Amino acid sequence: MNDVGGKLDEAIEAPVRLHVEPYVSKAYAREEKDKLWSKVWQLACREEEIPNPGDYYTYDILDQSFIVLRAEDGGIVAHHNVCRHRGKRLTSGTGHVSHLHCGYHGWQWNLRGENIRVLNKEHWCGGLDKVDLSLASVKVGRWGGYVYINLDPDCEPLEEFLAPVIDVIGPLDLGGMRYKWRKWLRYPANWKVVTEAFIEGYHAPATHPQTAKFGTGVTAGSAEGIHAKMWAVGVEGGGIGTGIGATSTHKPKDLPFLGIQQAAETVWANYSETLLEAARLTAQALPESATPAEVGADLMRRAHAIDAARGVEWPEVAPEHMARVGINWHVFPNQVILPNLTFALGFRVRPDGFDPNSCITEIYALERYPDGLEPKTEWVESPDITSKEQWPLLLRQDFRQMHEIQQGMVSGSIEYMYPNPLQEAGVVNFQRNLADYMGCCAPEVL
Ligand code: FES
Ligand SMILES: [Fe+2]
Repeated sequence: MNDVGGKLDEAIEAPVRLHVEPYVSKAYAREEKDKLWSKVWQLACREEEIPNPGDYYTYDILDQSFIVLRAEDGGIVAHHNVCRHRGKRLTSGTGHVSHLHCGYHGWQWNLRGENIRVLNKEHWCGGLDKVDLSLASVKVGRWGGYVYINLDPDCEPLEEFLAPVIDVIGPLDLGGMRYKWRKWLRYPANWKVVTEAFIEGYHAPATHPQTAKFGTGVTAGSAEGIHAKMWAVGVEGGGIGTGIGATSTHKPKDLPFLGIQQAAETVWANYSETLLEAARLTAQALPESATPAEVGADLMRRAHAIDAARGVEWPEVAPEHMARVGINWHVFPNQVILPNLTFALGFRVRPDGFDPNSCITEIYALERYPDGLEPKTEWVESPDITSKEQWPLLLRQDFRQMHEIQQGMVSGSIEYMYPNPLQEAGVVNFQRNLADYMGCCAPEVL
């Protein structure tokens, strides 16, 4: 059983109501800048997006922009993307530079952010020597192949902020994975509505009816400090694709293949070709009477061997630890990860400026590849939420719902929402911790 599965009563939170204000209020959206985004560790990019010295990624949030840069020594630094002469942006998107250059009047900085050129500096008659013309820098932290920044010079170390996440997901070595695909769109809902859709499983039966077929049944959310985890109730094994659902009528030996095939077709993620092939072989080889534990062990052994033969090394993680991983993690405030041993699905949802009714949603799949054999990928804008070419079924199903949630909250017809105290406990945890930052709108016990 899942380690938390045996303590269901403890996992159920006190029932609460959530106010709609954080999702719809223009004033609240503005206040998020000073009270949340200026204080919190936030995901800027993945290391693989800036592999070499001089590579940069321009991270934009609200009305601010930052240059996240690989330095000469392989370290990563981040500067405010604002020229010290008169404020112009220095970079946009991603690219490679030997130094930073302002296209307006030509001032320049080295990768450490120190000013190296002011055109006609003599005209200041020494006045500029009294001024530090370095680009303003912000704190950088790295974990799991992710690069985080924090605008608060007095913030806690990233390792403390992420402690429960690092403890449980760390051994899965997400840093050893690379993008399989990555897509984004501007979506008409608050960034928290979209984030929350990916941290609760309560909507699965109605929104994703296909998942009940081979799926995990009821899921639960539980707080992991400021973050939260979603896990399947009464399931052996951990993580999508390796869990053997308790709710299915199929033979245990057939379930992994059916479930993994479904993930391949309807999520385009949460599986690897290796796992699919191993599951096919397991279904062929094992007797009808094989137990879920035997099926899981056989599947893992085969997948491990197939990957080893192609040069993909798995991290060593005990089955008991995999049970602690669960299905997915909310990394406060706006990152979601569905981690597994050789693949992961991830989300980042940013506000779209100060508009509470719009957000920028990024979704990507990671996979562990043989050294140097990862595919070349780019961020692909995929704005058509009904297109079968642009988005897999599961995500199209979510896209169909979330903007109508936003419309309902904006309409003024409801003031409060009533999250499921077990299955949407991750949402409650999110709102509770967000309220600590914002100083308002905490969940109210019914
Ligand atoms: S604004 Fe950048 S050099 Fe003038
Ligand atoms: Fe969903």
